[in-house]
Amino acid sequence: MKKEYQQHDSKEADIVSDIKIEHNRVPKLLVAVFYVVAIWAIGYAIFMPGKLAVEPAAAPQDNKGELIFEGTCLSCHATGAAPDLSGVTDRMPEEDIKNVIKKGRNTMPAIGHLYTEKEIELVYEYLKDYR
Ligand code: HEC
Repeated sequence: MKKEYQQHDSKEADIVSDIKIEHNRVPKLLVAVFYVVAIWAIGYAIFMPGKLAVEPAAAPQDNKGELIFEGTCLSCHATGAAPDLSGVTDRMPEEDIKNVIKKGRNTMPAIGHLYTEKEIELVYEYLKDYR
C-alpha cells in the first residue's frame, strides 16, 4: 500500500485551486494515431495540392461553352432538325459560325442576344473539339 502511494506521488502534478492535477502519460495508441494523421496530412499536402487549393473563381467558366452547347444548341443540332455540328469548325470560318449564332440563318433562329461575346467565343472554342 505504501509503495503504491509513493509511486502515485512521484507523478508530475500541478496544484490548481487546491486541486491536485496529475499528468498521466499519453496513451501509446493516441500517440501512434497522432503520427499517422500528421504524416498523412503532410503527404496529402504535397501530393494533392489541387485538392487543398480553393477553387479559383474562374473555374466554373471552364466548361461554360460545353454547357451552353449542350443546353441550347443540341436541342436542335442533335435531333436531326438541324445539321450535325461535328467538325463544323473545319468546314466553316470562325466569323461565319459566330454570325449564324448571333444572327441566325434560315430556320436557325438568332440567339446572339442570349449570350455575351465571351460566351459565344466559349461555344466556338468548344465546337473546335466537338466531333
Ligand atoms: C431552334 C433550333 C436551333 C438552335 C437552338 C440552334 N440551332 Fe444552329 N441551326 C439550326 C438550323 C435549323 C440550322 C440550319 C440552318 C440552315 O439551313 O441554313 C442551323 C445551322 C447552324 C450552323 C451552320 C451549320 C452548317 O453546317 O452550315 C451552325 C454553325 C450552328 N447552327 C450553330 C449553332 C450553335 C453553336 C447553337 C447554340 C449556341 C445553335 N446552332 C443553336 C437550328 C438551331
